[in-house]
Amino acid sequence: MDKLIISGPCTLSGNVRISRAKNAYLPILAAVLLSDKPIHLKNIPELQDIKTMIKLLSNLGVKVTKNGDITTFDAKDLNSHEATYDLVKTMRASIFVLGPLLARLGKAKVSLPGGCAIGTRPIDLHLTNLEKLGCEITLNAGYVEAHVAKMQPTSLRLDFPSVGATENLIMASVFADGTTTIENAALEPEIDDLANFLNAMGAKVTGIGTQKIQITGVKSFNEVTYEAIGDRIEASTYLMAALATGSDITIEGVQSKHLQFVIDVLRKMGAKIETTDDRIMVFKSDLKGCQVDTAPFPGFPTDAQAQLIALCTQVKGISVITENIFENRFMHVPELIRLGADITLKGKIAVIEGGMPLTAAPIMCTDLRASAALIIAALATKGDTELQRVYHLDRGYEKLEEKFSKLGAKIKRVKE
Ligand code: EPZ
Repeated sequence: MDKLIISGPCTLSGNVRISRAKNAYLPILAAVLLSDKPIHLKNIPELQDIKTMIKLLSNLGVKVTKNGDITTFDAKDLNSHEATYDLVKTMRASIFVLGPLLARLGKAKVSLPGGCAIGTRPIDLHLTNLEKLGCEITLNAGYVEAHVAKMQPTSLRLDFPSVGATENLIMASVFADGTTTIENAALEPEIDDLANFLNAMGAKVTGIGTQKIQITGVKSFNEVTYEAIGDRIEASTYLMAALATGSDITIEGVQSKHLQFVIDVLRKMGAKIETTDDRIMVFKSDLKGCQVDTAPFPGFPTDAQAQLIALCTQVKGISVITENIFENRFMHVPELIRLGADITLKGKIAVIEGGMPLTAAPIMCTDLRASAALIIAALATKGDTELQRVYHLDRGYEKLEEKFSKLGAKIKRVKE
């Protein structure tokens, strides 16, 4: 398993271009299954999770051809309706194929995703609401087996604004004979992006960006070219890496409004940040501690919580971070403590006494965003910090060493 060696402390400078959002392209790729016309997607990020989803599509019969920065998908002749355990177990987002397969073929057999490092990750909100749309669903030997003669448009209301459930249900409803409403829908920008993509193909999704989304069924889709939004979590990661190392950098290729709450929290800590629509300029700042609760969008994103804790270890004073979305998303904390951080966990609350210098030690990546937190801490830590199991990072950060090296970081991968 590859390792990263990061020599710190270092100062960053220059510009970093953010990739297209993993969490926008994963549902968009699943939505490819809905159409029998060619779909051309631009600048799909080279990430493990994306490769897994594309392999899953190929296994279902989708033809995939890459030509420069455009990848064309042809789902005209699907030859399977089964997403097998070997792929699904490596990536929970595989469950996104359930809705499209049911809408297109009327049947689907998708392995239950199983839990992951950050929590049990149930899919009850997906399944109960698909049943309300008329789907017959049984769980059999670790698989969701579902079929539907004709999707029944209806009014749905999510008990929790689940990102994945909202996306699956939108995709399931695009060919229903009438209008489906989803209330208490999640508001994440990636959902707007999926809806915009579906509408570009000829779907009729309204209420985009609100908690009440309506999908009126259509008969078929047209050929389309589309490019997803920038990755707000990758951008948040570079933003906090700059602040943790006392650096001035410019972040390009992401809509600043998509990480507005993160910017507001950092500004309240004393961060000097200037923004335009699609650029974020951050400057060396004297920061003070913060008190933050993670929440569904537009609140502080759970996917940026680990990175914020790493930043808070570099900030004089007390910070209190509460994780409200996942039940086990503090796996980065014991690793940060190995570097000398003073962090106390009390259930879903982390209390950080920041400002003490950290000292290099071998540490281990445990999940995608925890790994990003370790990168931020290592950049600010004196000595050569060795990060193990960096395959976690490769799931969601495109060209990470290349981008950080261009900003001046001393970071190298040791292939094992
Ligand atoms: C999406 O996961 C993201 N993944 C996650 O990003 C992100 O952390 C999460 O949304 C929250 O923003 C993708 O978009 C591919 P949820 P998802 O359904 O859809 C519970 C990353 O690092 N829940 O909004 O799985 C669930 O257990 C990843 O890029 C149910 O109880 O998130 C969790 O506690 C990690 N039943 C909460 O809701 C359900 O049926 C939020 O889950 C579904 C979810």
